[in-house]
Amino acid sequence: MSRIAYVNGRYIPQHQAGVSIDDRGYQFGDGVYEVVTIINGRMADEDWHLDRLEFSLGELVIPMPMSRAALKIVIRNIIRMNGISTGLIYFQVTRGVMRRDHAFPALMKPQLVMTAKTMKFPGPDSARPVKVITVPDQRWRRRDIKTTQLLPNCLAKTKAVEAGAYEAWMVDDDGYVTEGSSSNAWIVTKEGELITRPTTYDILSGITRKTVMAIAAERNLKIVERAFTPEEAIAGAEAFMTSASSIVTPIGLINDSPVADGEAGPVAMALRHAYFDHVGKNAAE
Ligand SMILES: Cc1ncc(COP(=O)(O)O)c(C=O)c1O
Repeated sequence: MSRIAYVNGRYIPQHQAGVSIDDRGYQFGDGVYEVVTIINGRMADEDWHLDRLEFSLGELVIPMPMSRAALKIVIRNIIRMNGISTGLIYFQVTRGVMRRDHAFPALMKPQLVMTAKTMKFPGPDSARPVKVITVPDQRWRRRDIKTTQLLPNCLAKTKAVEAGAYEAWMVDDDGYVTEGSSSNAWIVTKEGELITRPTTYDILSGITRKTVMAIAAERNLKIVERAFTPEEAIAGAEAFMTSASSIVTPIGLINDSPVADGEAGPVAMALRHAYFDHVGKNAAE
């Protein structure tokens, strides 16, 4: 059975879905997107994702393609039509279709595309520690906007894959880790403090990061929002990453240096466990 996509008001088989070659998303990366974990057939942290979508659109002066209530109906339809219990939903809004020109008029009709797929997440006890490499952060200065313009992220991730790694940590001009190509970066110090970079223009404010912060606070773990270097990560007790698709994934190797003993750290694993408890045990099916 073909997957069903939503494209500007129509639900159609994904292999037949298409957009205009004059779409500004295609020509300029002029759009924003969201990727959301689906658990028990429902979006995890739905309103936080929709808040971020509205924020990203607002910063780029793109109107919402429909009301939040209508968007929630499309989301539910796509999850149901594709029979997703556990997986990921993807939606993107581009500024619209026009003859190619850098400047855009104030009034354009935004385009909405949505797809979903089944995905089995490794359960809390089967997540293996992964390797990350470090690369220079080559992105623009508004990384807090979740734009579809992802070329530096794609180049970084490809380098990681070529190096046999799972993720690339991007490093700023001062030698501090900003974030992963599609995840937020964390370490645990030997004193047991959780460290992650504050949410300024420099990084995307990850929804999984936000959920994990809330879970860590409930467990009275100390969280310090500050930048850290790859060297500090290697010398620390643990490193891990968070994102909608990786949830909480422990990091065992940074370039060729192990983090502590190179195994999955207890804090990362406890947070992964707690995340599954928080959003519903079916994710680990
Ligand atoms: C650059 C970047 N940072 C962080 C994240 C993690 O965000 P979230 O937890 O909302 O998936 C992503 C997710 O795609 C990302 O692309």
